[in-house]
Amino acid sequence: MSHKAMKPEDDIASQISKIDAKIRKCTLCRLHENRTNAVPGTGKTIDLDLMIVGEGPGRNEDAAGKPFVGAGGRVLDSMLREAGLERSEVYITNIVKCRPPENRKPLDDETEICTSHYLENQIELLKPKLICTLGATALKYFTDETNMAKNHGRLLKSKNGLVIFSTYHPAAVFRSNSLRQVLQEDIKKIPSVLKELTENSKQKLLP
Ligand code: URA
Repeated sequence: MSHKAMKPEDDIASQISKIDAKIRKCTLCRLHENRTNAVPGTGKTIDLDLMIVGEGPGRNEDAAGKPFVGAGGRVLDSMLREAGLERSEVYITNIVKCRPPENRKPLDDETEICTSHYLENQIELLKPKLICTLGATALKYFTDETNMAKNHGRLLKSKNGLVIFSTYHPAAVFRSNSLRQVLQEDIKKIPSVLKELTENSKQKLLP
């Protein structure tokens, strides 16, 4: 029986599936205690341009095992579409993969354990050209910045050299209609940012 050599893209997809399986069984921090489903991430795994990183699963995501499937997810999908991007073209995940109780912010030790075991590996394998952070938790994790108003809609460099585009969390639009516009304007910039990143070296674009 002949075996075809494994293509590199099959290898990436299979390694991502292995990480998904580890996340679904993970008991490394207290967040596993109340989960229905862990939420590893979904989307494109081959030649990835854009990874989107939120904070952590909410009630709907915990029920479905998929990121951004509730009201915030519908906002995100429609804003991506308005910018000419489909969910199937991006990879979407979170800082923590299990729902924090009552949707509280992930604690520092939960963030440290989850990102060092899972998010870092996902990024290493998928090698996105750009990471779009949604909200203050993801912004702070990658850059140590805490000021959303100052840092949204612009490129930043992460502590280890990744290219970050930060914007508000989609849930923010339920608190403020003006943030809906800001978020949409930010997301609309992403295709041209990606084009520039493809055409120019990132050193030219970063502050
Ligand atoms: N909020 C997040 O940060 N992530 C999700 O997946 C859903 C809601």
